[in-house]
Amino acid sequence: MAEPGNLRIVPLVDQRARSIPVSSLAPAPHVSATGGANLVDRHGRPLRDLRISVTDRCNFRCSYCMPKDVFDKDYQYLPQTALLNFEEITRLTRQFVAQGVQKIRLTGGEPLLRKNLEILVAQLAALRTPEGQPLDLTLTTNGSLLAKKARALKEAGLQRVTVSLDGLDDAVFRRMNDVDFPVTDVLRGIEAAQAVGLGPIKVNMVVKRGTNEHEILPMARHFKGTGIVLRFIEYMDVGATNGWRMDEVMPSADVVRLLQTEWPLLALEHANRGETAQRWGYATPAGRHDTAAGEVGVISSVTQAFCGDCNRARLSTEGQLYLCLFASQGYDLRSLLRDGSLDDQLGTAIRQVWHQRSDQYSALRSALPSDNLPGVRRVEMSYIGG
Ligand code: GTP
Ligand code: 5AD
Ligand code: SF4
Ligand code: SF4
Repeated sequence: MAEPGNLRIVPLVDQRARSIPVSSLAPAPHVSATGGANLVDRHGRPLRDLRISVTDRCNFRCSYCMPKDVFDKDYQYLPQTALLNFEEITRLTRQFVAQGVQKIRLTGGEPLLRKNLEILVAQLAALRTPEGQPLDLTLTTNGSLLAKKARALKEAGLQRVTVSLDGLDDAVFRRMNDVDFPVTDVLRGIEAAQAVGLGPIKVNMVVKRGTNEHEILPMARHFKGTGIVLRFIEYMDVGATNGWRMDEVMPSADVVRLLQTEWPLLALEHANRGETAQRWGYATPAGRHDTAAGEVGVISSVTQAFCGDCNRARLSTEGQLYLCLFASQGYDLRSLLRDGSLDDQLGTAIRQVWHQRSDQYSALRSALPSDNLPGVRRVEMSYIGG
């Protein structure tokens, strides 16, 4: 939220209209016609992870994502007709999977606000990689509707969930979500997800210095030994509305140092190439990983960028393909879908777009002297999904 007396001017240009027609791209002649796992971008990065935003709406107003003064009653959300329908999403996803995608994350906004989401989950759960493997199918949620929906999601074929939770103290949590939502309801949602087997569950906590850093140790104490992996995320300069300031970022190194005042920690290997989090295991007195106590993670998008292995693409609610969380333009796949393109043509479009990708925003930002890169207005995270 803007500080009192600190006027924040938000340009009134609707960046959602900024899109690049795929037909304007040069063909990628030396990309094989079948594409698949060999497809790489200009930095040699494969396409493995697709994040699909199913709604640009949310019932929370976290100040770092959808500040209330911008996302107010007059904010123009996408009209229903602009949204990809479930058949369109599934058809596109099938083509992404043919090009190497192995992991799908449903996001928003708050994805559980999208009606009948379990129908989409069931369609996506039926997809297979070219090698015949099921996808890693997961969802990021604020947890507010999880207690009600966990069972149906599990039955539809969702494998796991990641829940955003920025503190355990009810007053702090209500301040963070800015809609007075009680923390007990989210904790109940996490329990319900655990009870139906939507695991391994991850909990993501965005740490904002001066707002919730005193919740780091209570959160770690709460989730230690539960099988739930708690991850601390550096507050990022994503979007154009959150009034980001570097002095509100708590570097992951400080988070780890704070945790180590209470527990010995051991650095663990990455589970997968391109993973966002650095993993730390709770250690036994003998210096081994105490697997019963579990692990925590830190996501250091600001102080230690991880663009080098970034294998993530993002599909916006209205079918724009974004190649970076910090992009200001997407590639218009919806018009291809609605213009009657064949599946092969969709696959070719995805290959062309990925093939010429060179995005590495966070790495470039940390290499520059200023806090921010100049340029056009970036899209909001609630629109392309975390
Ligand atoms: P797992 O497969 O469960 O480990 O998920 P993940 O870490 O790939 O995804 P998740 O959505 O849990 O990401 C956690 C947070 O990391 C997001 O909410 C963002 O804050 C940040 N993040 C994820 N992907 C990127 C990325 O590509 N770039 C940057 N800068 N931050 C990212
Ligand atoms: N910085 C870091 N993470 C953010 N998210 C949203 N906005 C930001 C930001 N400015 C992420 C959080 C949240 C998820 C939905 O999006 O991880 O849990
Ligand atoms: Fe909603 Fe998640 Fe954004 Fe908070 S971070 S406003 S819960 S989409
Ligand atoms: Fe990937 Fe862009 Fe994030 Fe770098 S900043 S890790 S390129 S999404």
